Amino acid sequence: MGLKESLDVEGGKSILKNPNVLLDTYIPDKLLFREKELGELVVSVRNLLRGKPGMNVLLFGMPSTGKTHAVRLLQRDFNELAVSKGYPARAIYVSARGKTLPKVWMDIANEASRVVLGEPYKYSKTDMFHAMKHFVDTVNSADGIEGVLLILDELDSMVPSRYSKPNARLLEAITRLHENGLEKHYNFILVTNNDKVIFENIDAGTASRLSALWKIYFREYYPNEIAEILRDRIRQAFVEGAVTEQAVNFLSAVTMRERRDLRFAFYLLYTAGMIAEMEGLERITDEFLRRIYSTVRREYIKDKVKSLTESELFVFLAILWSMREGLEGYYTTTPDIYEAVSKFVDVFGKDSYNFRRTMIRGYILPILKAKCLIDIYSAGKHAGRSKGNIVIPLEDYNTLLDVTVEVFSERFNLDPEQVREVLKRGV
Ligand SMILES: Nc1ncnc2c1ncn2[C@@H]1O[C@H](COP(=O)(O)OP(=O)(O)OP(=O)(O)O)[C@@H](O)[C@H]1O
Ligand SMILES: [Mg+2]
Repeated sequence: MGLKESLDVEGGKSILKNPNVLLDTYIPDKLLFREKELGELVVSVRNLLRGKPGMNVLLFGMPSTGKTHAVRLLQRDFNELAVSKGYPARAIYVSARGKTLPKVWMDIANEASRVVLGEPYKYSKTDMFHAMKHFVDTVNSADGIEGVLLILDELDSMVPSRYSKPNARLLEAITRLHENGLEKHYNFILVTNNDKVIFENIDAGTASRLSALWKIYFREYYPNEIAEILRDRIRQAFVEGAVTEQAVNFLSAVTMRERRDLRFAFYLLYTAGMIAEMEGLERITDEFLRRIYSTVRREYIKDKVKSLTESELFVFLAILWSMREGLEGYYTTTPDIYEAVSKFVDVFGKDSYNFRRTMIRGYILPILKAKCLIDIYSAGKHAGRSKGNIVIPLEDYNTLLDVTVEVFSERFNLDPEQVREVLKRGV
């Protein structure tokens, strides 16, 4: 059979009927175990659809508790309903993850053009005040629009750049849009893991304007709920009976170990489905998942490392290299990181980079944290002076090092063996 004929063969033994429901970008219609929370969200913003102001909301909870899923669902249904019934309001969604403050405003301005005017306006000036003005003008100029709902997701993962305290500045601006010329009603939904972080450093005026926030908490799921969410997604993704009950138990256990984050389980299922089809298997069992687990885990981590820019990758390898094993696992400190980075610059000749400490501390570390590669703790104070920060890896250290050396070598055109050798010699 030629290639064309093979390509034309229908399906074969396909066990994955809907692989896309396992991808990160998919927003399912159903959100299980959240009726009460969704109900509160609906009540808080419903007035906007009738041209009246609603409530401002703070939505918070641990990773993977369905916050993003909930607000994307809300945005979609809000806009579909508004368009079909001619209601005078639209919802705008922007995630702040890994973005600087000007970039967040740029995205708000562009989303407003797209959603409110139906025009994909490519606004690209990274200037916060211009972007904000553009947003205000866009909404003011929209005929038949009396209100907007602004949904800001992952506010605790914004990265500082020129602006220190980006959250305080963003919240100040968001609560003052009327003073800044917005003539329509608006409400906002602030979404975050950490409800403390985003309110740090806000001024008294902003604090008082935020005092009437309606707080909605997304609690963590119980183990049986995790299993039910997995089963539900499996029913959508696979043909009936393709994933055994023991496999579901295995995935639930993996998820509990992942601090209840469902995302890796979906990734594992997706890959498992693909491999099973290639191997002509009709069923995904727990043995099969165990067999592919470490390879898939490695790929998952590698994807995260690959998403780093050159300078982030450079600093990340230096961080890993500076780590040592303590009683509670691997760790390093910010002073050690600065030293490691400057040694790295010497050895790998990246002197074109100007890695200032403020840039590492204020920009690169927060990005690595936002990408769930590291966590950062304050080391406390000694004699009134800060002792810096402690940095730990959020994945298995040896896998991380291995994968990062690979990606680093590819990116900088080096021989991985040589890089390993240099790291072993102690740079
Ligand atoms: N109740 C649920 N029913 C069905 N799927 C869910 C539910 N909760 C979470 N999920 C799924 O789990 C994954 C993670 O959820 P989501 O991205 O909404 O988490 P989050 O609370 O925004 O996490 P983070 O704080 O890390 O951004 C998504 O694929 C989502 O569809
Ligand atoms: Mg989220």
